[in-house]
Amino acid sequence: MLNIEELSRRFREELAAAQETEELEKVRIAYLGKKGSVTELLKGLKNLNGDEKREAGQRINTFKQEVQAFIQKRSAELEAARQEARLKNDPRYDISMPVDLGQGTLHPITLVQRELEEIFKSMGFTIEDYKEIVTEYECFEAVNIPKYHPARDMQDTYYLENGQVLKTHTSAAQNAILRKYGANTRAIFPGRCFRNEALDASHENTFFQMEGIMVGEDISISNLIYFMKTMLSEVFGKPITVRLRPGFFPFVEPGFELDIQCHVCGGTGCPTCKQSGWIELCPCGMIHPNVLEMAGIDSEKYSGFAFGLGLTRLAMMKYGIKDIRMLNSGSLKALEQFKVR
Ligand code: DAH
Repeated sequence: MLNIEELSRRFREELAAAQETEELEKVRIAYLGKKGSVTELLKGLKNLNGDEKREAGQRINTFKQEVQAFIQKRSAELEAARQEARLKNDPRYDISMPVDLGQGTLHPITLVQRELEEIFKSMGFTIEDYKEIVTEYECFEAVNIPKYHPARDMQDTYYLENGQVLKTHTSAAQNAILRKYGANTRAIFPGRCFRNEALDASHENTFFQMEGIMVGEDISISNLIYFMKTMLSEVFGKPITVRLRPGFFPFVEPGFELDIQCHVCGGTGCPTCKQSGWIELCPCGMIHPNVLEMAGIDSEKYSGFAFGLGLTRLAMMKYGIKDIRMLNSGSLKALEQFKVR
């Protein structure tokens, strides 16, 4: 039998000589291929017996693993050299530029959004993505705001030349999502919304909301309160007291404004809650029968709740951000504070 040490020495020489991927491939075939030296050695084992066979088998296998590992390493080296040569000769790249540009950070809205997604996922909700450009029907008619209804005045809308609109609220996705899941809907849908606002510390023309809907048999206001309380307590990391006040939104009946007891002073009154002890946080209500019917759901049999959480506002509250304009400023100095730890 051929001396393995001798074979190993030859292999290393040939390996070092291989300067191209094709040459390396030839070496690989010469050793590991169907008729390669290692394969031949393994075939030769059948002529041996007992201890001799076992011992030779082990040595050959060790050698085989060595060959495989060396070839892999050499292949990676050749590939790296090839890449470097390509970049060096390509005028579009400057390989002398330092690569350590520092680690990026997640935007505070992304942080809050992901946190909410986790909470709702754990409660059996699906997470839906939706378009930013929608039809007027989706944005208004389908959520019970007919043409010329005064409720349209509350949302100063960007109309596109093709008649579509930039979605003014995440409610614009309700119809599509209700159609998708029917009477078993449990979904949240975060999204960017647009309104023609005059900018100041608390108004932006581009902001985020997160809509949630749950439909089924016997869904009631108690379910709504339960989910909102659970979600808000998770977000703020402590039990949160909520209250409902009547509020008007065409797509819910009854409709509410959900307030939370001020998380800063605990309800005794402070500048954050303007001394009232409560903070208005999330409009919500029981989905209007018209909205269910327009999505093909039998409103006699099924009911559901909906809420429209101001994601931007929640992020500002959670992180104590005073000026909404900071969020879209692209200012690294401001945004870098939100490192994920
Ligand atoms: N779409 C409303 C807005 O942006 C917010 C809203 C209110 C959403 C009540 C809801 C809801 O789902 O039930 O002004």
